[in-house]
Amino acid sequence: MKIVLGPASTQLGESIANLLSMEKVPVHFKAFPDGENYVRLEGSVQGEDAVIVQTTSPPQDSRLLQLALIADAAKRNGAGRVTAVVPYLSYARQDKVFLQGETVSIELVARMLKTAGVDRLITVNVHQEGILGRFPFPAKTVSAIPLLAEHFRRKGLEEAFALAPDEGAMHIVEEAKKVLGGECGYLDKRRDRYTGLISVEKKSLRVKGRPVVIFDDIISTGGTIVAAAKILKELGAGKVYAACAHALLIGDAEKRILEAGVEEVVGTESVPSRVSKVSLAPLIAAELVR
Ligand code: R5P
Repeated sequence: MKIVLGPASTQLGESIANLLSMEKVPVHFKAFPDGENYVRLEGSVQGEDAVIVQTTSPPQDSRLLQLALIADAAKRNGAGRVTAVVPYLSYARQDKVFLQGETVSIELVARMLKTAGVDRLITVNVHQEGILGRFPFPAKTVSAIPLLAEHFRRKGLEEAFALAPDEGAMHIVEEAKKVLGGECGYLDKRRDRYTGLISVEKKSLRVKGRPVVIFDDIISTGGTIVAAAKILKELGAGKVYAACAHALLIGDAEKRILEAGVEEVVGTESVPSRVSKVSLAPLIAAELVR
């Protein structure tokens, strides 16, 4: 098995390869003057199972196409089974038809990857796990939440309250609670399907004077965390932190979150940035040798 270093996740790919003492295959990539992507494997995968590590955080479309091109290149160059490790799986939030006339984007992405040569996929905290059962190849999601919770436990936040912004994220805070040891709960968040605006209802939570970590799968515009932090402040919570697997942090999201009174935002290399303080390498390495 060889680790193919996708251009979007070179560092993560190297860390995984180092942990598993596996050979790395660098990828030469460039964009042509008109914007088209070009990739070339700079090592042999002939007769080898290939693990391509490539996240698809923004710019999503370009990174998805790079992944497809690399998978195709791997198969053309004699690779056996091709595994795509895609920490942030873009388009996964469009996992059903919400409004008439839409499509299920993630299903098309999966078919596209299958056509490109992907035989198996590993992702991290996919938005709805159920969607993976409809992929045309085996696909699995692993959770970064215990590692994120461990980050806060090491900072001395044992017994912190783990808060989910909505009931759908309760499974996330149940995982965090196992590490932090405190309580967990959720708020009632709603999103307008047309405007995208969210509203979060205030409710009674046992957070007065206690540190709280808000856990979510994704932080995008930061609207969810800002609304949740505002309610926590009204409830008299102690210090508030935010953690997620995928810190997209679009525009000035981080600034707005900090201005809302959040002490720290923590993410992983699924979206490489300065808040990628928790590494996915041990989690993914363990999954690859399972
Ligand atoms: C949606 O259900 C997700 O779990 C996140 O809560 C959402 O993507 C966060 O988006 P934003 O940061 O724009 O509020």
